[in-house]
Amino acid sequence: MFLAHSLISFLFLCLGTIASCGEYSMPTSSSGLKYGANSTSKPNFVFIMTDDQDQLLDSTDYMPFVQKHLGEQGTFYQRHYCTIAVCCPSRVSLLTGKAAHNTNVTDVAPPYGGYPKFISQGLNDNYLPVWLQEAGYNTYYTGKLMNAHSTANWNNPFPKGWNGTDFLIDPGTYLYWNATFQRNTSPPSSFPNDYNTDLINDKALAFLEDAVTAADSKPFFVGIAPIAPHSVTRGDLAFTPPEPAPRHMDLFPGLKTPRTANFNPEEPSGAGWIYNLERLNDTVVEHGDLWYRTRIQSLQSVDELVDNVVNYLSEKGLLDNTYIIYTSDNGFHINQHRLQPGKLCAFEEDINVPFYIRGPGVEAGKVVDLVTTHTDIAPTLFDLAGIELRDDFDGKPMPITKSQINQAEEIHKSRSEHVNVEFWGIGLGEGKYPGTVSNNTYKALRIIGEGYNIMYSVWCNNEHELYDMITDPGQLKNLARSSETETQIFGRSIPEVQSRLDALLLVLKTCKASTCTDPWSVLHPQRDITNLEQALDQTYDAFYEAQPKVSFSKCELGQILSSEGPLVGNMYEGGSMWPNWV
Ligand SMILES: *[C@@H]1O[C@H](CO)[C@@H](O)[C@H](O)[C@H]1NC(C)=O
Ligand SMILES: *[C@@H]1O[C@H](CO)[C@@H](O)[C@H](O)[C@H]1NC(C)=O
Ligand SMILES: *[C@@H]1O[C@H](CO)[C@@H](O)[C@H](O)[C@H]1NC(C)=O
Ligand SMILES: *[C@@H]1O[C@H](CO)[C@@H](O)[C@H](O)[C@H]1NC(C)=O
Ligand SMILES: *[C@@H]1O[C@H](CO)[C@@H](O)[C@H](O)[C@H]1NC(C)=O
Ligand SMILES: *[C@@H]1O[C@H](CO)[C@@H](O)[C@H](O)[C@H]1NC(C)=O
Repeated sequence: MFLAHSLISFLFLCLGTIASCGEYSMPTSSSGLKYGANSTSKPNFVFIMTDDQDQLLDSTDYMPFVQKHLGEQGTFYQRHYCTIAVCCPSRVSLLTGKAAHNTNVTDVAPPYGGYPKFISQGLNDNYLPVWLQEAGYNTYYTGKLMNAHSTANWNNPFPKGWNGTDFLIDPGTYLYWNATFQRNTSPPSSFPNDYNTDLINDKALAFLEDAVTAADSKPFFVGIAPIAPHSVTRGDLAFTPPEPAPRHMDLFPGLKTPRTANFNPEEPSGAGWIYNLERLNDTVVEHGDLWYRTRIQSLQSVDELVDNVVNYLSEKGLLDNTYIIYTSDNGFHINQHRLQPGKLCAFEEDINVPFYIRGPGVEAGKVVDLVTTHTDIAPTLFDLAGIELRDDFDGKPMPITKSQINQAEEIHKSRSEHVNVEFWGIGLGEGKYPGTVSNNTYKALRIIGEGYNIMYSVWCNNEHELYDMITDPGQLKNLARSSETETQIFGRSIPEVQSRLDALLLVLKTCKASTCTDPWSVLHPQRDITNLEQALDQTYDAFYEAQPKVSFSKCELGQILSSEGPLVGNMYEGGSMWPNWV
């Protein structure tokens, strides 16, 4: 049964993407498994997701158990991205395999987001745990599911698809002490004497025990979502630094935010409200360092949780048939580009997030350069579980096993080179000096190929950003606003490059399913162009110059298409395009 299914899935993947077409076979167990997940059944998943954890400010360097169990024994994806840098929309994208413009859950609270919007969009019937249960999994979750899942709506309706749940709910989600939990169908309760992450640790281990002793011996998915290193907040716009467990409070004395090139720079950078920020004084910078230190301290209890989970799986002999994933919903910045501690931006600090995986067939100690995103995670789990991919996934399976990765690395260009990043709403800082709330709606694009590494964005006030991240990894020199004309990419001028990036962004901002993973095929239906380098050929100069440009007529707080400029562009040699999905 599984073999037949697996073969169908294999053929399906081969048609869809060369990169997924590895000689994938379920690894055999060496330890004589006692539980449901044995060598002929589907693998188990333990999915650990932190909240607001950066990759680029080095937070995982301070997590020795993550390094030991997942870094040294698993594979690290150093170019893994979220596609929207804020909790709830990012989590919904991850749990559905869809871009935020397709879930239309674009904010943390109604009317544009939060748990009520997840429900009203019909997604409670159509997301990962529901699909996994249908495929024969037992599913469990503890921690934060998403924002605005609260003491007011916890049972109206219940999140579907779970065999066991113990959620952190608002307004007590982000309290390191006296957090509010809501277990299975019981009413919410508060835990004044316990440390939040330690509770998550205990609840996670108890669900693992339920999962491995379940009478039906099914494979399992256990989601573990601690709030560290998120700021403390009661759901308003007031934030205070994360609170570490008492046993970690004295660690890392004097530790400071890395002073990278873009740290509180002398010259203004970015666009929109960010370009207008004043340089930070020493008091504010010191406050940022406090934020940095308490974040790292708060992550120590998550690190211990990772150790406990891995040790538990090891004791039960399940490591050979369990994938352990470690990631974060979005990244974080502290004083880069003169910003207060926070997220919500398309800067690399906010969108590049940790992603580690360990499990059967995964190479130990491997670091992968391939571009992957949170919308790829649901398809990846499907792929690993041998479940046929859904037609409406906006992402595609990540190469996970050694052979899949080798193949994708050999044919580098067969794997997507782009990330579509989007945001709707306000921009604000956390911290003691938050500044004013500003318009922060934008469309952005990361594109990384052989010989180029670019970020491009269009803001709702129609400002543009273009960074050459090979020469400017800190994103300090906005080539779209610079008057100098010498910079070239592949021998093409900045306006020539920008015309291609803009056309690609025009496709991506409304893409669905395969047009998200293969956007060049929309512009070039002959499918002879598959990457930026090829599109830069001067044969296409006139075509790209004449393409309608990404623009906005207004800054909205949600996805109001009538304010989002042109939706339809032109196909090369093919007239106008895309009526079937706009
Ligand atoms: C292993 O899985 C197969 C197929 O699901 C099942 O028939 C068998 O009983 C399992 N063996 C153990 C030892 O659990
Ligand atoms: C988990 O829930 C599914 C769907 O309701 C059910 O079929 C399955 O038996 C449950 N598993 C256990 C161990 O209760
Ligand atoms: C804990 O939180 C609850 C509300 O969730 C509140 O009623 C209670 O007073 C709090 N207890 C402490 C000790 O702060
Ligand atoms: C530093 O900047 C903050 C925020 O603008 C301001 O509140 C504070 O007064 C400044 N401190 C000094 C010493 O200038
Ligand atoms: C935000 O955008 C709205 C709509 O485009 C505009 O009316 C308003 O002036 C903008 N606010 C700021 C602070 O730029
Ligand atoms: C997204 O949701 C908002 C709020 O319900 C709605 O006004 C808007 O039209 C929706 N956008 C799309 C593209 O469906």
